[in-house]
Amino acid sequence: MPRPTLTRSTLLAVVLMAIAVALAACTSPQTTFEPASDAADRIFSLYIFITIAAGIVGVLVLGAMAYILIKFRARPGRAAQQIHGNNALEIAWTIAPIVVLVIIAIPTMVWIATSSSREVAADAILVTATGHQWWFEFEYQGLGPDGGTLVTANEMHVPVGRQVAIELRSDDVIHSFWVPALIGKTDMVPNRENRLEPFVPNEIGEFWGQCAEFCGVAHANMRFRVHVDSLADFEAWVAAMNAPPADQAPDSGAVRGKRVFELTGGCAGCHTIAGTAAAGRVGPDLTLFGERTSVGGGILDATVENVRAWVCDLRSVKPGALFMPTFAVGDPDTDVLSEAQVADVVAYLKSLRVP
Ligand code: CUA
Repeated sequence: MPRPTLTRSTLLAVVLMAIAVALAACTSPQTTFEPASDAADRIFSLYIFITIAAGIVGVLVLGAMAYILIKFRARPGRAAQQIHGNNALEIAWTIAPIVVLVIIAIPTMVWIATSSSREVAADAILVTATGHQWWFEFEYQGLGPDGGTLVTANEMHVPVGRQVAIELRSDDVIHSFWVPALIGKTDMVPNRENRLEPFVPNEIGEFWGQCAEFCGVAHANMRFRVHVDSLADFEAWVAAMNAPPADQAPDSGAVRGKRVFELTGGCAGCHTIAGTAAAGRVGPDLTLFGERTSVGGGILDATVENVRAWVCDLRSVKPGALFMPTFAVGDPDTDVLSEAQVADVVAYLKSLRVP
C-alpha cells in the first residue's frame, strides 16, 4: 500500500516542478531577462556568467555524488564502503571552491568598480528621483521653463540612445529605485543623495519600475513606469510639459472639470498642472496626465474607468494611501463631488495631452 502512494506523490512533485519551471519562463514587465540598457546588459551578462559557472559546479558535484553513491553502495554480501582520510582529495575540494569563487569574484568586482566610477556624459539627461509614501517624483534639471527644473511624477520619459544620470532622494522613509530592464536597484535614503550608475537606454518602449525597499502599507503598490522615447517624441513631450494645456471646446467636460479641479474639488491645493492655476506640491504633479499610461503610482492602467475609481475613492484601489481625500463613494450627503463632477475631472485630466 505505501508503494503506490509514494509513486503518486513523486509523480505529483515532478508535475508541479515542471509547471513551476514552465511558468517561471512567462514574460513579465519587471523581468531582468530582457535588458534594455547598457547597464542592464552588463548586469545580465554577469548573471548569465555566474549561472553557467554555478551550473558547471552543480553538475560536477551532483555527478560525483551519484557516482560515489552507486560505486560504494551496499551489495549482497558486502556492507557500504566507508572510507576515511584521503589527503589528496581533501586538499582538492578545499582549493576547488577557492578557485571557483575567485573566478566569479574578479569580473564582479571589476564591474562594480567600473559602474560606480562611470562618468556622467556632457549631454546626459539629469534627473532627480524622489521617493514619497507611496509615489515617485522626477525632476529634470535644465529642461523646465527658462532652463529651470521640469517636474513630473510616476512616469519618466527619457530618449533612447542618450545617457541618463539619476540622483536618488527620499522625502520620508527609505525607498528603493528599481527598473529591472534598465537600471537599479538602489536605495533612496532621506537626507542623502545616492547616484545611480549613468545608463544609456537602447530600446524604445515602456518599462516598469518598482519600489524595492519596504516602506509602509502601500509599498507593494509603489510603482512607476519609464517611457524610452525616440528623440523626437521626447522633445515633443518636454515642449508640451513646458506649454500651457491646449484650449478645449467651451462647456466641454474638460473645461467644467478644470473648474472642479481648481475650485470645487480643491485638487489644485495639492497638485500642480503647469500653465494653470494648480500649483500644489503635496501630491504628484499632474502636468500632461493624459499622456500617462498608469494611474495611482503606476498600479493601474490609466483607463477612464480606473482614473474615475481613483478620484472617487483611492483607498479602494491603494489601501493605506495618504493625504488625498475620498471624493465620492455614492453617498450624496457626504460626497465632496457628484458623479458628474468626477466624470468632468476625469475628462479634464485625460485632455492634458501633447498637442
Ligand atoms: Cu517605497 Cu517601498
